[in-house]
Amino acid sequence: MKLAVIGTGYVGLVTGACFSSLGNQVVCVDKDPKRVALLKKGRVPFYEPGLPELVAKNTKAGRLKFTRKLAGAVSSAEVVFIAVGTPSRSNGQADVSAVIEVAKEISGVMKKLRHGHKVIVNKSTVPVGMGDIVSKILVENKVPKNNFSVVSNPEFLREGSAIGDFMRPDRVVIGADNSQAFNIITDLYRPLNAHIIFTSIKSAELIKYASNAFLATKISFINEIANICERVGSDISEVANAVGLDKRIGRHFLNAGLGYGGSCLPKDVSALVHLSRENGHEPMLLSAVREVNEFQIDAFIGKIIKKLGNLRSKNIAVLGLAFKPETDDMREAPSIKVVQALIKKGARVSAYDPAAAPNASRLIKEAKLVKDMFTAIEGADALVVLTEWPEFVEIDLERVKKALKSPLIFDGRNIYDRGRVEDAGLEYVGVGR
Ligand SMILES: NC(=O)c1ccc[n+]([C@@H]2O[C@H](COP(=O)([O-])OP(=O)(O)OC[C@H]3O[C@@H](n4cnc5c(N)ncnc54)[C@H](O)[C@@H]3O)[C@@H](O)[C@H]2O)c1
Repeated sequence: MKLAVIGTGYVGLVTGACFSSLGNQVVCVDKDPKRVALLKKGRVPFYEPGLPELVAKNTKAGRLKFTRKLAGAVSSAEVVFIAVGTPSRSNGQADVSAVIEVAKEISGVMKKLRHGHKVIVNKSTVPVGMGDIVSKILVENKVPKNNFSVVSNPEFLREGSAIGDFMRPDRVVIGADNSQAFNIITDLYRPLNAHIIFTSIKSAELIKYASNAFLATKISFINEIANICERVGSDISEVANAVGLDKRIGRHFLNAGLGYGGSCLPKDVSALVHLSRENGHEPMLLSAVREVNEFQIDAFIGKIIKKLGNLRSKNIAVLGLAFKPETDDMREAPSIKVVQALIKKGARVSAYDPAAAPNASRLIKEAKLVKDMFTAIEGADALVVLTEWPEFVEIDLERVKKALKSPLIFDGRNIYDRGRVEDAGLEYVGVGR
């Protein structure tokens, strides 16, 4: 099929590259000229394992193209994916202005076309009702009703494993109001042999928010239990392992630590809280999920201050800045608040992250960003781990002990075994242990 994908962020570029590798002709559109120029040179503007290779292979095969010009891409496409950002406004509401802008641009192109049906697929995470708004924009801009269908097809990929998640999804949700549109999108996904679920547009829109809110709830739940563990002498890792073996619960997303961050969970929980309030229901559980998440960072900073006392003139080594491993995404990363708090209290912070340093340098200007782990650790008064990158898990603890000025580790992600750390002669402070 001929596809246009609007937006070449994590979702749009992965969608475009994956659908092209399944044999479709894909044109990816972005309004950011720098981004398009990079992509045209074969460079991927963010860190995502496997994506540069996939983009290169399909570009070379002539199935994947990049442009700033939406009109050409849309006029020849049978299916148009909208995959632009929907960040949080200051009141928590999802900012859908980019989706609206794109819908208007698509209308401008489609009203000039005499015939040809197109399916407009919303892949961005949007509040319930956005499908109707997109339809309304098209109709108001004189696109004949019979010439388009609007579909909601939320994306569940995770940064860091985005290609695998796209190609082997747990499910594909297709929210449509007619079987013709449903069949077209089902045909596109057929090669994946995925479990396809047909819903109304409004259910599909809510499924995405409900999924992310549940994941955030699991994280805040286990953090709540971790806080109880610390006070009663239990170990959250032992508790989570056993609780997670119950098939009704599952082990995923039961890792206690600094809480959730990133470009999706915080904004999607906030957007759902806003949507719920706007529609007359006070979301009690979701408000608590957010409160626990904020508490985790404050409590962790509190532990560092309690142990080190006055932070003025203390050198602190930080390992990990990205909100999770295998990404360079710094959006809502807990590291931002932790590092800023340490610096505000007078500490000097030397930080290392395998991928996120360029993005982090714009957000935490006062920290010194170094190029390897031990440059950060050498001579520091404490080591603070904020992201669970595999290379930090495998670090030589004996060497860490020798390099640190005082042998102290604050493990914000519970990646180390207390026994191993203590055997190496280091003092250990984790979360819920
Ligand atoms: N990042 C994730 O892991 C993830 C996972 C699932 C769903 N989502 C959702 O998918 C959507 C996109 O997320 P993302 O992380 O890929 O966003 P992103 O911010 O990384 O990328 C969005 C891209 O859209 C482009 N854009 C904005 N307005 C445009 C316009 N008018 N015309 C053309 N291009 C335009 C931007 O320049 C940018 O390159 C969001 O709604 C997000 O919630 C994200």
